[in-house]
Amino acid sequence: MIEQPNAPGKGGAGESEGDDVLSVSVGSGTCTRAQRGATFPPQAALDERTISGLVRPDSVHRRIYTDPEIFDREMANIWEKTWIYVGHESQVKAPGDYYATRIGRQPVVMTRHKDGSVRVLCNRCAHKGAMVVPEGAGHAKVMRCCYHGWCFDTDGSCVSIPREEGYRGTPIGKGKPAAAMPAVARVASYRGFVFASLSPDVPPLEEWLGGARHSIDNMVERAPEGELEITGGVFRYVHESNWKFFVENLNDMMHPMVAHQSSSRTARVVANQELDADRPVPSAVEILSPFTNNYSFFDEMGVHAFAYGHSYSGGRVSIHSAYSEIPEYVAAMERAYGPERTQEIFSIQRHNTVVYPSLTLKGAIQTIRVVRPVAVDRTIVESWVLRLKGAPDELLKRSILYCNLINSHANLVGPDDEEAYWRQQNGLACAGNDWVSMHRYPDAAQPDEEGGLSAIGSSDMVFRNQYRAWAYYMTGGHAVHGPMREPSR
Ligand code: FES
Ligand SMILES: [Fe+2]
Repeated sequence: MIEQPNAPGKGGAGESEGDDVLSVSVGSGTCTRAQRGATFPPQAALDERTISGLVRPDSVHRRIYTDPEIFDREMANIWEKTWIYVGHESQVKAPGDYYATRIGRQPVVMTRHKDGSVRVLCNRCAHKGAMVVPEGAGHAKVMRCCYHGWCFDTDGSCVSIPREEGYRGTPIGKGKPAAAMPAVARVASYRGFVFASLSPDVPPLEEWLGGARHSIDNMVERAPEGELEITGGVFRYVHESNWKFFVENLNDMMHPMVAHQSSSRTARVVANQELDADRPVPSAVEILSPFTNNYSFFDEMGVHAFAYGHSYSGGRVSIHSAYSEIPEYVAAMERAYGPERTQEIFSIQRHNTVVYPSLTLKGAIQTIRVVRPVAVDRTIVESWVLRLKGAPDELLKRSILYCNLINSHANLVGPDDEEAYWRQQNGLACAGNDWVSMHRYPDAAQPDEEGGLSAIGSSDMVFRNQYRAWAYYMTGGHAVHGPMREPSR
């Protein structure tokens, strides 16, 4: 891991139930979008005690998903206080490259400076506050504000101001701190994944990542050249629901066989009835079929959780384990690592890893999804594909196919989850049962070899862990439940 310098300026700125189960078809919900904004009953003022009270050892209050004031607090106390994924170093390969995005509500720009370092700057002009670069990526010798033409170097320092003489005798001028785009408080990169914090008061990135960092390690080690690069553009889509539904769903092992029944089971039927048994199974069928594996399969996959809300599902087995081997790729890996180490790397088959709250990744398929909350009931999700350097193009094609089949509004699997999140967002407007259940297998967790907890896949342990972390952050570290242990009962 490399801590990056970030001068100038100080921190400122998813056993099948079978066919006899009556399923409610996924389609139009019973609530209208207009009803979504229905007024909730009067609520207690948000102090630390109230926030702690919203998280029980086995359930959370519906208010955490529906209350705009809670959302504002999350932005301030979680998203703007801890490590948030910004982007991958390969997005800013050459000096002058930039990528503009947000940390919580605040616009930032990641740059490659001329000394080779990666910087993350507040995307705010020191003059009258305009965003200096629009959201997106590009290359620039200097970053010139569109309003009055102040220019900034890729380290944020001001390099020119039109008619600068008018500022004589003031703190404003090129090279002066008051005229710079301030650097964010902390920037660090772990194996090419760049995180930043708007608060200086965060643990070292590697310590904070805990066992989740091994998911990044495995993704990187799957490259014969030991490096990844972002390829193609980003696919962004909006969930009309709270960000936490998505983050929970990725390690929810009780939903795939139900929510994805229509797409996955259809793939199985096509494979069984229409495909020639002598020909290879198409990649799309390999990708879709495991979503309707039985409950025992998902239990065996298991879940692991770590401090600060991180987690992953799948270990030595996951929905990615049975993909066809690509001989050319195996040969490239064995040349790079030797047969034994190659098999060790391939034996790690994690499903989804959540680096709470902002980054989710699939090492075995080389994709990431990045969470960008917009409002209490609106979340942008970014889907990115990474190329394994030194690997044949078939790997990249499989990653792209996976994203095209799974990760968006417009494919076979993603809409099932989005419909579920939207129904949750609307269903939780109902008063009368204020608590969302996280009761499954309350005692199933065991310490794992990475310093975290492990449990069978259908345990709710990961969710309980996320909300202990949530309460920890939301109360400034004063929550009754710490970020790690399962509560004693
Ligand atoms: S607001 Fe940027 S130069 Fe005036
Ligand atoms: Fe799903």
